[in-house]
Amino acid sequence: MNEIQSLYDMLGGEVGVHALVTRFYDLMDSAPEAKDIRALHANNLKQSREKLFLFLTGWSGGPQLYMEKFGHPRLRQRHMPFAIGSRERDQWLWCMNQAVDTGDFDPAVADHLKKRFSEIADFMRNKDETQGPLFQL
Ligand code: HEM
Repeated sequence: MNEIQSLYDMLGGEVGVHALVTRFYDLMDSAPEAKDIRALHANNLKQSREKLFLFLTGWSGGPQLYMEKFGHPRLRQRHMPFAIGSRERDQWLWCMNQAVDTGDFDPAVADHLKKRFSEIADFMRNKDETQGPLFQL
């Protein structure tokens, strides 16, 4: 039989997605490299962990758990209350890239994930970072 595996299956289904999210938030919660984005989150990360797990499950081709509970993700809009610039994007990706690299994924799957995450994280930027004029006349 020649079945096409979904990304969800390649991540290890529920257990694999859950473990990825756990590694991601454990890093965010402890690494000085992520301190600015940690500060954007609530003291207790329980809800963030739960929501990212539900979202990534559907995003990777598993059951649409996030949609069933919260409706369409509209991720960019939901991130608007938080000021996200290149620094925040890079801190988020720093955590996620490590979380991916410490998983037991096929290297092609890990590469794919990191590429996709970097695109989504970049799209989440909502802070005007253009520099003002060097000289004020
Ligand atoms: C670029 C840097 C990012 C920062 C600084 C950031 C920060 C945050 C913060 C502060 C929250 C609110 C915490 C909460 O309500 O639980 C949040 C929610 C969320 N984030 Fe991010 N995020 C980023 C990128 C991403 C990316 C790339 C994804 C998906 C791959 C993502 C997925 C989510 C989801 C699903 C939620 C819950 C949305 C909701 O239902 O309110 N985030 N994020």
